[in-house]
Amino acid sequence: MNNSILLNSIYHKPIPHTPVWFMRQAGRYLPEYRKLREGCGSFLNLCKNPELATQVTLQPLQRFSLDAAIMFSDILVVPEAMGMELNFIENEGPKFTHKIGSPQDIINLDISEIAQRLNYVFEIIKNCKKELKPDTPLIGFSGSPFTLACYMLEGSSSKNYLHTKQWMYNHPELLHQLLDKLTQAIIIYLTAQINAGVDVVMLFDSWGGILTEQAYIEFSLTYLHKIIAALPKAKTPNTQQLIPKIVFTKGGGIWLDKISNIGADVIGLDWTINIGQAKSMLGQKAALQGNLDPAILAVGDKNAIRQDALRILNAYKTANNGSISGHVFNLGHGILPVTNPDHVAYLVDLVHEFNLTT
Ligand code: CP3
Repeated sequence: MNNSILLNSIYHKPIPHTPVWFMRQAGRYLPEYRKLREGCGSFLNLCKNPELATQVTLQPLQRFSLDAAIMFSDILVVPEAMGMELNFIENEGPKFTHKIGSPQDIINLDISEIAQRLNYVFEIIKNCKKELKPDTPLIGFSGSPFTLACYMLEGSSSKNYLHTKQWMYNHPELLHQLLDKLTQAIIIYLTAQINAGVDVVMLFDSWGGILTEQAYIEFSLTYLHKIIAALPKAKTPNTQQLIPKIVFTKGGGIWLDKISNIGADVIGLDWTINIGQAKSMLGQKAALQGNLDPAILAVGDKNAIRQDALRILNAYKTANNGSISGHVFNLGHGILPVTNPDHVAYLVDLVHEFNLTT
């Protein structure tokens, strides 16, 4: 991994071009994904089939010159492995058969065999590491405790998260019990991912941004901090660097200083924040990832994509005294299914050529 452009950028070392990968880079916008997915019944079946999930992980890297792979799975396999029956319903999204509705439901969650039950994920990681080029890092991930708790308490995606907030405002001690249990499970899960070979880990806190600042600190950030502190001090092969941790709180742009204080090596940005201002505020405390509105890639023409991508690249470089290092280009959230793969290819090349032309 000595020559990984992504890792070198995260460590603020000199790099030839800005590295780029995309959240949801494997998925429905790719015809080869849709074809493979048709043949395997449910989405969960695909996640649990290491051979097919490995193929899906590698699909975007066969098409585009991406600087990292992200293992193909879903954040909700963790509550499923804790005993909650889960289905992904076509055009609707994830649904738990029974949501968490009582203190007994929390007690019933079983984390004793979490690593064994998620063994298929570690198989995917081992397979991918065999297939990937030596300098292409593999990103492992988990949902944040708070984001997983939201899905477990609501039973599905939600508009205003009232079940979650009912627990939070009326029974905070019970929500803390659930978050504690999830934190233990996630530490076991991410440790096993690192042992299986991932080079980077990312925590998806997709719903931390629905909270007040005080509640964000109490119910999300504190647990993210515990996870980062508990991860093994594993080093990437051939370097003396610790495995980097990416923390992405969607809607968390106003709390960047707080996120940078919990040991996050990289902070994920959605598209609502100015990356130049974020860089000026944080300096070298953390690398930055993200920032392009996924909608531009989905509905913008090449000119619109170019303008906004260059705006981000230039804003970062200017705020970083003319250096591109410390930036990982990405979207501010996952690629939308209606995205044209040709536009993705265009964007990858544009990002790679930026440093040659400026
Ligand atoms: O990024 C990647 O390429 C790796 C794979 C990945 C998936 N989900 C595959 C997926 C990752 C990293 C995730 C994370 C995830 N899953 C998050 C956090 C990031 C975010 O989007 O905020 C969340 C909240 C989920 C939960 C989830 N999974 C939802 C709400 C849905 C339904 C919405 C949708 O896009 O369909 C999923 C399904 C899902 N996860 C799909 C994929 C490729 C689509 C399923 C299909 O093929 O039918």
